[in-house]
Amino acid sequence: MLFEKLNTPEEIFSFKLGSALSMENTVLDSLQDMQKETNRDEIRALLAQHEEDTRQHIANIEQSFRQLGEEPDDKPDLAMEAIAKEGKAMLKKIDDEIVDAGILAAAIDTEHHEIAVYEVLVTNAEARGAIEVATLMRQNLESEQRTLDAVKAVEERIAKGEGYAVATA
Ligand SMILES: [Fe+2]
Ligand SMILES: [Fe+2]
Repeated sequence: MLFEKLNTPEEIFSFKLGSALSMENTVLDSLQDMQKETNRDEIRALLAQHEEDTRQHIANIEQSFRQLGEEPDDKPDLAMEAIAKEGKAMLKKIDDEIVDAGILAAAIDTEHHEIAVYEVLVTNAEARGAIEVATLMRQNLESEQRTLDAVKAVEERIAKGEGYAVATA
């Protein structure tokens, strides 16, 4: 259920952790789709690297549940579903030779959302004294931040420099 009643900070935390789990699974799908669509090896490599990172993010979330004595439990993340849906819809509407403009924009949207999610999880894991969980969530946060920086660097260079258009066969 989406808005089940959450009575304690601990229940809210578990709910947000479960949302993060479904968020990462959605991200995994998007990263795979975008690798197929991109025109640039550089972007494909970045997405492939982050696909690998994402598997680690999922493992860290599952580990966090266990640290708390709980089984990993998916909860919806409507924001991530919307970002993924919008990204997919946009890719269909963009001409093939400039599809990377849409891919990079979707990737930046995604990483910002993930960063917001992990910022809250880190703060609240620290607040409840769950040090190992805080460490795992901080690893995820920092990985997303590094990825955002890398994607933004590529996006700025292409947008302001060479432009998105490529000759497609
Ligand atoms: Fe992630
Ligand atoms: Fe990410």
